[in-house]
Amino acid sequence: VSSLQRVAEPSSSAHREDEEVEEEWAGLGFGLMPTDYMYVAKGSEDHHFARGQLSLFGNFQVSPSAGVLNYGQGLFEGTKAYRKENGHLLLFRPEQNALRMQMGAERMCMPAPSVDLFVNALKQTALSNRRWVPPPSKGSLYLRPLLIGTGPVLGLAPAPECTFLIYASPVGNYFKEGTAPLNLYVEEEYDRASRRGTGSVKTISNYAPVLMAQMRAKKRGFSDVLYLDSQTKKNLEEVSSCNIFIVKGKTIATPATNGTILAGITRKSVVEIAPDLGYQVEERVVGVDELAEADEVFCTGTAVGVAPVGTITYRDTRLEYKTGNGTICQKLSSTLVGIQTGTVEDSRGWIHEI
Ligand code: COI
Repeated sequence: VSSLQRVAEPSSSAHREDEEVEEEWAGLGFGLMPTDYMYVAKGSEDHHFARGQLSLFGNFQVSPSAGVLNYGQGLFEGTKAYRKENGHLLLFRPEQNALRMQMGAERMCMPAPSVDLFVNALKQTALSNRRWVPPPSKGSLYLRPLLIGTGPVLGLAPAPECTFLIYASPVGNYFKEGTAPLNLYVEEEYDRASRRGTGSVKTISNYAPVLMAQMRAKKRGFSDVLYLDSQTKKNLEEVSSCNIFIVKGKTIATPATNGTILAGITRKSVVEIAPDLGYQVEERVVGVDELAEADEVFCTGTAVGVAPVGTITYRDTRLEYKTGNGTICQKLSSTLVGIQTGTVEDSRGWIHEI
């Protein structure tokens, strides 16, 4: 990893040759490795977003009274570009990220880029940083779109100007466990989201509040925490950075998106793929007591992928799940990764090859 950080120095990165970068992909985790370019566009109160442009990746200036700094007026997205064997880059369902950003922008009182502008900007960002896309099976280029209130405000109000920005970083596995099964802890002290709050919105303000429970669980040796609904504490919601599924027999269940759960694009894709593989999918209320009966549990997210859960600790009980060869989690994961990386036929038109 230290060699990757060396490559990442912005001053040296622009002068590196492709081959030099590619030698160093081993051990890629999920940390920022600065790349060459970012995309920036400005939008104003009249809800118009001018087409933006690429600039060198780097710090930028905002007013100390920017809406995002003072009142958390901001959204983020996440998607990945994969390198295909033929050298082309593949984007996975980018219009879904654009639509989710539009819904979030409405909730957070910001103008939103059109789907066309958003997808075009993602393509420009991926292509301009193409030497940072790891070779097939070594990882992907994570693309992080942001929509943030950058205009000045003092009293609580929407910022008069917003910035749509996309930056990129090569990434490997999200969790330090790599591809090994996760060990989750059912969090009962803190809630992630409240009824009619912003739990279903990919706002930046949903993420810092989960750090405390996450850090506490990590100190105790867990990978992350699993949240319950804030009203009854009887039903599953999601993990800090990903959705959750439980498997019983040939049925896969995941909490329905009722306003408190992030409508993950990997979650939606698994729900759509699973029937093709012979599984029944249920989006519904999933009781915490069902964890005791489940055969398998797995998490889904853009950053996380489809990640097996090996154990869940609920109160004093440590529940164990099937992982590894032959599991439904593994079948779903390899189908999805195959579509994303171009080795499994994309019969639904999810992939943009660039
Ligand atoms: C993603 O999966 O892309 C996310 O946005 C989660 C983030 C906390 C890494």
